[in-house]
Amino acid sequence: MATLVAVDETTVAAPETADDTGIQSFLVTFIVRRFDPEVDEEPRWVDYDVELYSTDRVLDALHKIKWEVDGSLTFRRSCAHGICGSDAMRINGRNRLACKTLIKDLDISKPIYVEAIKGLPLEKDLVVDMEPFFASYREVKPFLIANSTPEPGKERVQSVVDREIFDDTTKCILCAACTSSCPVFWTDGQYFGPAAIVNAHRFIFDSRDDAGDVRLDILNDKEGVWRCRTTFNCSEACPRGIQVTRAIAEVKQAVLRA
Ligand code: SF4
Ligand code: F3S
Ligand code: FES
Repeated sequence: MATLVAVDETTVAAPETADDTGIQSFLVTFIVRRFDPEVDEEPRWVDYDVELYSTDRVLDALHKIKWEVDGSLTFRRSCAHGICGSDAMRINGRNRLACKTLIKDLDISKPIYVEAIKGLPLEKDLVVDMEPFFASYREVKPFLIANSTPEPGKERVQSVVDREIFDDTTKCILCAACTSSCPVFWTDGQYFGPAAIVNAHRFIFDSRDDAGDVRLDILNDKEGVWRCRTTFNCSEACPRGIQVTRAIAEVKQAVLRA
């Protein structure tokens, strides 16, 4: 195990080895919550020591474990650059994207705990069933609904000011980090959850859309916006920096005005 030294606010491991280029690597312990439905009755925690560079990310560590130690380790990822939203997981108890979590930003003097996001059915290791999440997303009609047709050759014009109103909520990558960090969603799987409300917001406040009232009616349901207790976990979890709680508050106000 590497010796640990403190530098500024971040504790880093002393160099474990240096490769041919002289770049130092560190031995980092990961404790991953594993579950194989064909073998396990309950999830179990498994330790792995992984040699990494400070520029590596948690996703790189998971790849190393899968490719060099245990090929059965199961997780989702695609873009590896914070765009596709497929590798949200709990890292040291916080929802994050594994591809956006740098090793140098974690305290590697202690083991790093990695587990699946909460509130959705666990399928295997770090993979959950996302269908309930996407069912709520589909329910809010996350697409433009316009009653009129623009004149041939013309676009639907929108001012910069009108576009700005919903700019924040266009950034969602549907990673579920927000919804799976929400205590209301954990206790009540029926709640639409913050991600669905964010994606409803994106169209409710779009000046080109004509179905805002329909979406507001859907979210005025008992499992809609009023279940939100303004806990702010969702805003803290969002890897895109979306002000999720503020978007929910704006939808609540719009429901009251409707
Ligand atoms: Fe992920 Fe943020 Fe979209 Fe929630 S609002 S699904 S945390 S990108
Ligand atoms: Fe949940 Fe976010 Fe509301 S965490 S309670 S949806 S503020
Ligand atoms: Fe695509 Fe992380 S792998 S967001």
